[in-house]
Amino acid sequence: MSKAVLSIDPAFTVAPVQRRTFGSFVEHLGRCVYTGVYEPGHPSADERGLRTDVLEAVKDLGVTTVRYPGGNFVSGYRWEDGVGPLEQRPRRLDLAWHSTETNQFGVDEFMAWAKRAGVEPMMAVNLGTRGIQEALDLLEYCNVPGGSHWSDLRRANGAEEPYRVKLWCLGNEMDGPWQLGHKTAREYGRLASQTAKAMRMIDPDLELVVCGSSGSGMPTFGDWENTVLREAYDDVDFVSAHAYYCEKDGDLASFLGSAVDMDYFIDSVTATCDHVRAAKKSDKRIMVSFDEWNVWYADRAESKLPEGDDWPVGPPLLEDRYNVADAVVVGGLLISLLRHSDRVHAACQAQLANVIAPIMTEPGGRLWRQTTFHPFALTARHAVGEVLAAPVRCRQTKTERFGEIPVVDAVATHDPQTGQLAVFMVNRSVDQSVEVAIELSGARAAGPADGVVLSNPDHTWQATADDDSSVAPRRLDVRADGDSLACRLPAVSWAMVRLPLG
Ligand code: AHR
Repeated sequence: MSKAVLSIDPAFTVAPVQRRTFGSFVEHLGRCVYTGVYEPGHPSADERGLRTDVLEAVKDLGVTTVRYPGGNFVSGYRWEDGVGPLEQRPRRLDLAWHSTETNQFGVDEFMAWAKRAGVEPMMAVNLGTRGIQEALDLLEYCNVPGGSHWSDLRRANGAEEPYRVKLWCLGNEMDGPWQLGHKTAREYGRLASQTAKAMRMIDPDLELVVCGSSGSGMPTFGDWENTVLREAYDDVDFVSAHAYYCEKDGDLASFLGSAVDMDYFIDSVTATCDHVRAAKKSDKRIMVSFDEWNVWYADRAESKLPEGDDWPVGPPLLEDRYNVADAVVVGGLLISLLRHSDRVHAACQAQLANVIAPIMTEPGGRLWRQTTFHPFALTARHAVGEVLAAPVRCRQTKTERFGEIPVVDAVATHDPQTGQLAVFMVNRSVDQSVEVAIELSGARAAGPADGVVLSNPDHTWQATADDDSSVAPRRLDVRADGDSLACRLPAVSWAMVRLPLG
């Protein structure tokens, strides 16, 4: 067994915890909307068809912000199809996911859902098959109190008060050749800049996200951000980043190191933003919206799209089943996001229900939680106050993809209001436990520590509808040792230790 030493001092702050770090994503894809968040006729459905069992789970998950309605879907979406009397809404082909969109759920249903879930909506506009005018129309529908065509239509549709959505994405993954209306960086940067300028004529206080790269492995990565920001720097507040990870060819060691790529991704994007800032002699800093991240096994049968004349409604798509190692990686990615809280001011785990999701539902039936639910929920609940640097001294472990990486990765938060310290850690060893010492300086323990750990002798264990709780975070034995705490992290584990500081 190896040793790791973490040094924590509440004076060494990185930045405040950004509550928007704990965002999620609802896309019209597979069963995320239909039989996910929305299922009229389900025993738990409210009068609008919103599944209240899902709403309760969303609250437990601690989600703060939800991006909608896509994703690839948004690049072919006509938002007007999804408002007004249900029986008059058209059925359309959804080209992104080779499905039929019934439009029974649209902007008004989403806003009602967001309100009930207690989350901030983050809207995306279609800059694939549409452009400035349609973005303006949607903004008018959502944010203008009344007295104009689209705002009065919203009122006629039952929403007297404007939704006042602050956070908007200017399209989705426009760097990806798979995207409807895919553009070059120059073309997209200009369109994004013009759309942003026009949207700010309605509401100057919007927070706008320009599309960055769909992954650090994109051939245009780096150049894309540079070119887009040269066009749109003054008009936007965020640049997006998207990343999905999975275990490939049985290479668990590299998979457990996925946060190394996320660190690299964020550092590269912020460096590019700051390069453009310098070139433009601007005072403004652009933040990162990591608005799609997760584990996704995109090569599995679950992600195979319907074909030919088969255009199903709400088919089961991307319904990945997650194991314990996947949950450890999710916990590790949250550590990376928190560590970058000075520049990552928003993030969305993709997605919320059924589609690569922590929450699974049976049509007409039960709800169950995947393994990945737990590290997200615990981090969202307990990462409060200031993010602290948590430098780790430990042995390196070898990975195919990233070379030698520290076997333990960690971040901490400290809430100056309550004095509560929370330390989030992963042991990325595939086969060895690590004895961890958490050394405190600049503060003393003001009470006993407690901890939880997520691991299992069989890291391939997956939750199911019949058993989603026999492997869940369990109590971690944390020993006080002078100004240090000691605990043991099993191989392939995620853990959280909490301690009140005086
Ligand atoms: O989250 C699934 C898909 O992944 C999204 O629609 C798209 O933006 C990304 O490629």
